Amino acid sequence: MRLPLSTSPGPIGVFDSGYGGLTILSKMREFLPQYDYLYLGDNARSPYGSRSFEVVYEFTLQAVEKLFEMGCHLVILACNTASAKALRTIQMNNLPLLDANRRVLGVIRPTVETIGAITHSRHVGVLATAGTIKSESYPLEIKKLYPDIMVTGKACPMWVPLVENGEADAVGADYFVEKYITELIGQDDRIDTVILGCTHYPLLLPKIKTYMPDSIQIVSQGELVANSLKDYLRRHSDMDAKCTKNGTCRYLTTEAEDKFAESAARFLNEEIKVERISLE
Ligand code: DGL
Repeated sequence: MRLPLSTSPGPIGVFDSGYGGLTILSKMREFLPQYDYLYLGDNARSPYGSRSFEVVYEFTLQAVEKLFEMGCHLVILACNTASAKALRTIQMNNLPLLDANRRVLGVIRPTVETIGAITHSRHVGVLATAGTIKSESYPLEIKKLYPDIMVTGKACPMWVPLVENGEADAVGADYFVEKYITELIGQDDRIDTVILGCTHYPLLLPKIKTYMPDSIQIVSQGELVANSLKDYLRRHSDMDAKCTKNGTCRYLTTEAEDKFAESAARFLNEEIKVERISLE
């Protein structure tokens, strides 16, 4: 039987399948340093990108429930695949049963909102996991706000494994970075803006910049999501009051602690303490 959720204020939960959400978390901590954060990476089951809708939904719901149980009132899915495949169902079907006063937010909407002001050609590319591309979330959300924008998506199934396995800077990564960028531009040569629609991809940014034509603007999500969270907390003072503010950050992983600590330290440029948990 599920224990009742605590009503005391708690940290902001940040969830990703693995390390990618750290690119979002570090911007949140930069823009909103006063808050407490609880980061959860489901590294043992990452990547999510090639998994079915049902499995991504099931895993994401387990993570959200765990973060609620650990005191979070607000959870950010710092993962496009989870935002594309699980967010809406969790908001509509699960939240009312778990606790209608808690909130789960994603990363796709804040990204899409900014696009209209960036593209001049009105041709936008999206690089993301196979799951996010297949869900059509980006074209659907962009069309709602900017019906004149033409969206072309390209799945990059090798990029998350490169990042998760610490090979983002390796020479071997160049082949796959160049391949997907060339294929995307080959589909529509009028693209002037490319969304990195996966939170792992900023870790490949030095290589992505090498192969992306200079005329194309690269949009990564960290700042956009952090700004949108800042705005959300300003507009929702009731939720803001439920978020503790001691400037701390706690890290949880479903894989080995030392493995996470070593890889995360590379991304965050700091030593961190990590706790292992189980979601099953
Ligand atoms: N970082 C995630 C995203 O933004 C998930 C990648 C994966 O697990 O495949 O899509």
